[in-house]
Amino acid sequence: MDGLVLHFLPGTITGLVFCLLLTHYCKGQSESVDSLQPIVARVGDDVVLPCQIKPSVDVSAATLEWKRSNLFVLVWRTGADFKRQKDPSYRGRTSLFPDELKHGNVSLKLSDVKLSDKGTYRCYVVEKNREMFVELVVAPGCSPVISLSGMDRDRGGVVLQCESRGWYPEPEVLWLDAEGHLLSAGPPETVRGPDDLYTVSSRVTVDKRHNNSFTCRVQQNNIHQTREAHIHVPDDFLLSSSSSADGIMGRTVPVLPIITGLAVSLAVSIMVILACVFFVWRQNRTKTKKRSRDKAEKE
Ligand SMILES: *[C@@H]1O[C@H](CO)[C@@H](O)[C@H](O)[C@H]1NC(C)=O
Ligand SMILES: *[C@@H]1O[C@H](CO)[C@@H](O)[C@H](O)[C@H]1NC(C)=O
Repeated sequence: MDGLVLHFLPGTITGLVFCLLLTHYCKGQSESVDSLQPIVARVGDDVVLPCQIKPSVDVSAATLEWKRSNLFVLVWRTGADFKRQKDPSYRGRTSLFPDELKHGNVSLKLSDVKLSDKGTYRCYVVEKNREMFVELVVAPGCSPVISLSGMDRDRGGVVLQCESRGWYPEPEVLWLDAEGHLLSAGPPETVRGPDDLYTVSSRVTVDKRHNNSFTCRVQQNNIHQTREAHIHVPDDFLLSSSSSADGIMGRTVPVLPIITGLAVSLAVSIMVILACVFFVWRQNRTKTKKRSRDKAEKE
């Protein structure tokens, strides 16, 4: 019971942190649309690859080509999408914005992005011999999620686990302490899913020698993508685990108090949310009542 009370408050905070992390888990992060920057997409997204001819002349009657290496992504000829020349892998998935062509805007719409779509695209206006390049990055990875996965009684520390999915190519995982120093962790585990994307996970043991804020950074340098998550480990998790007198040496055991703490904090979080909902509802009702009373008075 003692442990429960001890872990109740920090547990609530940790629980809230987890809830926040979970609600932010891998929503599509839209990146800025600047032709110098790569366009970043997830598998299944629809994207626009920008291409603006300057000065903005009317190119609707010109011959326009979009290619990725030697594949024709789209060919525009005599004022129409010349579908016969399009590579089969792009059929039904690419189009221009016909109304924009008169402003020199040759941006390409690519739907239902596939992993194999990644690469450098070339936009070419044949008559003007003008070209532009756009890089498409697919599978930039999701924000990692950190969890407390166990306790290392021998070292009096806790084991943190970090997991991140949706990457291609395979990323690397780093753990950092509050001052930004690298922590030594074992080799990460990498799993390739049926969608060809990688999920990485890594564990690290932290103890009271460390400041109790930790960062898990997942990065893929080839595609210039970095995702991070932070966790604050409540002090008493690190302190209460310092005695190793019970003979369990150097073993990682699951931490019941943490789980109990999380369960309790989840319950508390739900109660807080319900209280908020009730409060807002009551405010609205009061307002509505007041409004109808005002109305009645006016009449
Ligand atoms: C070109 O057209 C597309 C589609 O309407 C639009 O999203 C984009 O902003 C336009 N680009 C410029 C430079 O106006
Ligand atoms: C913990 O952080 C504080 C402030 O950032 C710093 O002064 C202190 O040296 C750190 N302690 C350790 C053990 O890294």
